Amino acid sequence: MSTKPAPIYADNAATSFPKPREVIDAVSAVLGGMSLSPGRSAHRYSLECSRVIFDTREALADFFNCPDSSRIAFTCNVTEALNVGIFGLLGEKLHPGDHVITTALEHNSVMRPLRYLEKTADISISILPVSGDGEVMVSELPRLIRDNTRLIVVNHVSNVTGAVADIEAIGRAKGDAVFLVDAAQSAGVFPIDVARMNIDMLAFTGHKSLLGPTGSGGFYLRPGLGLRPLKMGGTGSNSEAEIQPDFMPDCYEAGTPNTLGIAGLGAGVGFVTRTGLAAIRAHEQRLCRLFLDGLEQMKGITVYGPAGGRERAAVISLKVKGKSESAVAQSLDRDFHIMVRAGLHCAPGAHRTMGTFAEGTVRFSFGYFNTEADVAACLTALAIISKN
Ligand SMILES: Cc1ncc(COP(=O)(O)O)c(C=O)c1O
Repeated sequence: MSTKPAPIYADNAATSFPKPREVIDAVSAVLGGMSLSPGRSAHRYSLECSRVIFDTREALADFFNCPDSSRIAFTCNVTEALNVGIFGLLGEKLHPGDHVITTALEHNSVMRPLRYLEKTADISISILPVSGDGEVMVSELPRLIRDNTRLIVVNHVSNVTGAVADIEAIGRAKGDAVFLVDAAQSAGVFPIDVARMNIDMLAFTGHKSLLGPTGSGGFYLRPGLGLRPLKMGGTGSNSEAEIQPDFMPDCYEAGTPNTLGIAGLGAGVGFVTRTGLAAIRAHEQRLCRLFLDGLEQMKGITVYGPAGGRERAAVISLKVKGKSESAVAQSLDRDFHIMVRAGLHCAPGAHRTMGTFAEGTVRFSFGYFNTEADVAACLTALAIISKN
């Protein structure tokens, strides 16, 4: 009798799985225990709900070294946070004729809003180039900065190559421009300190390495930086006024919030904090190194991104000679119960820089709950697929 091997989840860059037990417990405690209407009423359920949201805000503020938790606003994911940052700046600090710098490794959640502004609002865009190893060339930044550069948007960790951008160096070199960091892949694995790194706006998503549920995310916004809110409506505050409150976080949090997601996100941040970023990073690094070392022994596999022990996240893009990306991913799932993601990963620019546009790559992304045995099984499966 043949027994199926246990499924191996290696798609953590899309969303992390499994979630820590305490995340599941936090979501179900809130869903089963209170009425989910924070800041709207004075009854105990509403107050308890507000407390859950406040605690998560505080946990995130501590996590990113932001002294005032009211500078953290919740959104439903990093895409929404990035849209608030980019579109919200228009008419505030960003005007027609102004200039924006970004990188060749951005996700479509940055590139699509920027290209839209380029087309409709007379904003020009310069792209920070990427080295042969897939790393953003921060040394080129001073050359690109102009008098009218108002915004610099940078993906901290590439969701295609795992390359890590030196955001601290960008924070030092940014001049007067607003520095917006997309921390979708880094928050929960790499240390982020908004004060030390001189970050004006940090956009994060809850469901990746912060280990929360989908539908959660948010941003940090530096005091004094005004953004036009993308949505306006009820906030439970200043209800007598027919204009949107202008203070944080209410200004950006119109509508009943996702208390379930925020409760789970708070528990996820709690798990990461207790486990320790260093321990999480060390574990993922060990898995990544094991995988890369194994791939090096294999014929017919091309690996992309930082090589030779350079700093990188456990996100590894590869190609198998003679096989389409979708065929490899399908075989991994069907024949070996290994889940990965094939294609362009919503970051066509990253694939253009690597020469893998338009077919893309097969992406393995390991998380804290993967094991060395998972990596060994991935290597065995790839060895078989590449030989067939
Ligand atoms: C670098 C990067 N930015 C943005 C996103 C969008 O994330 P979300 O779908 O949670 O908004 C992703 C998701 O894959 C990502 O990897």
